[in-house]
Amino acid sequence: MSFSKFISKQSSKPSGLFGRFIMPFFFEFGNIELNNLVFDTLSVKDSDHLLEIGFGPGALINKIAKKMKSGMIEGIEVSNSMIESAQKKNKKFSKEGKVKIQLADIESAQFDENNFDKIFSVNAIYFWKEPNTTISKIYHFLKPEGQLTIGFHDKNEMKNMSLDSDVFNLYSPSEISDLLSGYGLFKDIQTVSKKGKQRMLHCVSAIK
Ligand SMILES: C[S@@+](CC[C@H](N)C(=O)[O-])C[C@H]1O[C@@H](n2cnc3c(N)ncnc32)[C@H](O)[C@@H]1O
Repeated sequence: MSFSKFISKQSSKPSGLFGRFIMPFFFEFGNIELNNLVFDTLSVKDSDHLLEIGFGPGALINKIAKKMKSGMIEGIEVSNSMIESAQKKNKKFSKEGKVKIQLADIESAQFDENNFDKIFSVNAIYFWKEPNTTISKIYHFLKPEGQLTIGFHDKNEMKNMSLDSDVFNLYSPSEISDLLSGYGLFKDIQTVSKKGKQRMLHCVSAIK
């Protein structure tokens, strides 16, 4: 397997020793700026019920849990290595019932309708095999007036990173906006873009 394919596959679902010991650091430090932008965009309220899809090592869950007083944050992940890493980081909040994380794929996950105030995902939409179906599932999981926020890096910049195109589906901000407004689902779609130290950071939000 080429190195590019290996890193792409590890990014989509970290596994084995590499996934357990290297990828958590790779994500936590490499994605800090984008996670901070998503955090700012979420404007978390004390009582919010949130869901993160593809939380990796769980750094953003931890940051949000520290901020909230009475709310709850749930997370789903397809990688056992990331579940282990995020559990360790959020042990105290899990015990308190403020954080609940589980092994699940967003494409088959089940939650009640009108369940969450905010659902968000950072650097994970590239791996959704059926983004239209997934976006409409998320829509149903959100409460009325609930917010969906997607954080991602720029398609044109990522094209130069020799990632495996069988693994990564890259998007521009307008393509994500079109995805969210498809079938007349979401409204009030807003994009925030910011220049990071190395790459552009994009965050698209929409309201149910
Ligand atoms: C590139 S990492 C980003 C991790 C973290 N959000 C960050 O910004 O550092 C993508 C994560 O999404 C997870 N993932 C990929 N597809 C997923 C899916 N369909 N459902 C849930 N998690 C998924 C992967 O296992 C991986 O940990």
